[in-house]
Amino acid sequence: MRVLGIETSCDETGVAIYDSEQGLLTHVLYSQVTTHREYGGVVPELASRDHIRKTIPLIETALNQAGMSQNDLHGIAYTAGPGLVGALLVGATIGQSLGFAWNIPAIGVHHMEGHLLAPMLEPIPPEFPFVALLVSGGHTQLVKVTRIGQYEILGESVDDAVGEAFDKTANLLGLGYPGGAALAKLAEQGNPSRFHFPRPMIDRPGLEFSFSGLKTFAANTITKQASDTQTRADIARAFQDAVVETLIIKCRRALHVTGWKSLVVAGGVGANLALRAGLTNMLEKEGGKVYFPRHEFCTDNGAMIAYVGCQRLLAGEKSGLAIDVYPRWSLSNLE
Ligand code: KG4
Ligand code: ZN
Repeated sequence: MRVLGIETSCDETGVAIYDSEQGLLTHVLYSQVTTHREYGGVVPELASRDHIRKTIPLIETALNQAGMSQNDLHGIAYTAGPGLVGALLVGATIGQSLGFAWNIPAIGVHHMEGHLLAPMLEPIPPEFPFVALLVSGGHTQLVKVTRIGQYEILGESVDDAVGEAFDKTANLLGLGYPGGAALAKLAEQGNPSRFHFPRPMIDRPGLEFSFSGLKTFAANTITKQASDTQTRADIARAFQDAVVETLIIKCRRALHVTGWKSLVVAGGVGANLALRAGLTNMLEKEGGKVYFPRHEFCTDNGAMIAYVGCQRLLAGEKSGLAIDVYPRWSLSNLE
């Protein structure tokens, strides 16, 4: 089965074609980051309008790149949530309309299920069951994945998501939006022993996270210090070290709770090199293995949506003709 995937939940338009036999055939992405940068965050109305402009041309590009026409497709998958309602409606409307016009099934998929299963697109995919750490701009979750479609949330952030904490701290450091990757780059020059940031909630049992205090701690440290480049790098380093160590401790705990040996990391913050190195090291010591999507599939993309849609269409699912989107949608409510 060959499926066209459409991702429009936030500020990236992603389109891909996935084939159940041959794997990923092509994927294309348009990032709106320069549109939103001057506002310091995503402006939903601008995001929706840009998705309207970009989605159909990207579908044409993807088909051209794969040397295919619409007749070569057997299904369409689009992100139905969670995300910005207007942005989701663009992908859902285009996906449903093309499915109707081309007479092939269309299915709305869960954005976080896409992130969760993105490592399945790699040459050595994880085997079920595994624990997944989902770390994006909107989510921080540890998920128990028994098989495709069966997800139990073991713990999540009680306040800010990790990506959000990265972005807010980056903003305080004058790094622009979205600043996660820029903060990570600055942290490379930082002295790890100059500042020590707290590791939130590690003394308490459980798998919940909290990152808003860390952002406040960063704000207070920034206010107290002169803002030369080295100090900013040292603060970035201290912040990143605290986040990474906290995530490692909670992941180790989740592996112990489940007794499982595989960890999957997904979502935009999964691109963070310090986090990747720290988790790889921890899993080595634990005698387990960690799986990451390739860099470009950590952040939003159409490939993960095409993959999930293909699995669900193969299982005989499809969405009705109504264009339903779910701005808030928990992973644990998935069939
Ligand atoms: O998964 P994603 O593309 O979008 C959401 O669904 O939220 O994640 C975006 C988030 C942003 O907060 C961004 O700052 C963060 O991922 N991010 C990073 C890095 N690259 C992206 N955070 C830390 N280090 C990075 N290298
Ligand atoms: Zn995402």
